[in-house]
Amino acid sequence: MKKIIITIDGWSSCGKSTLAKQMAKALNYVYVDSGAMYRAITLYFLRNHVDWTDEKEVHKALKEISLQFVFNEKSQQSEMYLNGENVEYVIRDLVVAEKVSEVAAIKEVREFAVSQQQKMGKGRGIVMDGRDIGTVVFPDAELKIFMTADNAVRVERRFKELYEKNPNVTLEEVKANLEMRDYIDSNREFSPLRKAEDAVVLDNTACTEKEQFQKAMKWVQQKLQVPA
Ligand code: CDP
Ligand code: CDP
Repeated sequence: MKKIIITIDGWSSCGKSTLAKQMAKALNYVYVDSGAMYRAITLYFLRNHVDWTDEKEVHKALKEISLQFVFNEKSQQSEMYLNGENVEYVIRDLVVAEKVSEVAAIKEVREFAVSQQQKMGKGRGIVMDGRDIGTVVFPDAELKIFMTADNAVRVERRFKELYEKNPNVTLEEVKANLEMRDYIDSNREFSPLRKAEDAVVLDNTACTEKEQFQKAMKWVQQKLQVPA
């Protein structure tokens, strides 16, 4: 069967990675969480006190960064490795989320991540989620999904996740972080978050995970029926 590229872009915490994982599993495709790459770069910058307002420092630091996705048989998930260390858990912290949009707005950081993402899609058969996947990384993708959900629902969903890890997290903090990231991500100069013209919109405010999956798989079937 022909293999396609599926891109899922949208606002923070609207269910992109949940849907991407569901689809990759059903289709036996590779799932790539592009946000994890920006989070891992941010973690490196924070740990090594890189001044990311200084182009030279950014350039030097990027040369020291190696990113890798490694599939964990036990969790059946692919996990983010930074210079050989599994950082999948730590990159989800609010400390990283507070800075990631600033780092992801830097041109050289984007070029670094995008070139690796494009290599991963060479053989097609990939589902990648992020902000610029349908517009910049794979403008020729066969299926582009733009996800959205009401702000309050998104905040509640992310709060639940973070609260399980750290009960000191407040709803207000999470709300402020989501609003700030959405603002920076959609207003930055390079590759801002946009719906690609040919993307289909999936609003999952009132959708269960099963319903969103069923909707998206109908679109996949339509794309696969079109002769190559
Ligand atoms: O999971 P969540 O939607 O909260 O965020 P993420 O997908 O882990 O992405 C974290 C951050 O990385 C975003 O807020 C963006 O600043 C940046 N990002 C990006 O600029 N481009 C992408 N393709 C993916 C993420
Ligand atoms: O990747 P993104 O940041 O867009 O969101 P996510 O990590 O896939 O989803 C954020 C949270 O919303 C997760 O805990 C999902 O289980 C939950 N979710 C949900 O409750 N209902 C949906 N229809 C989709 C996601």
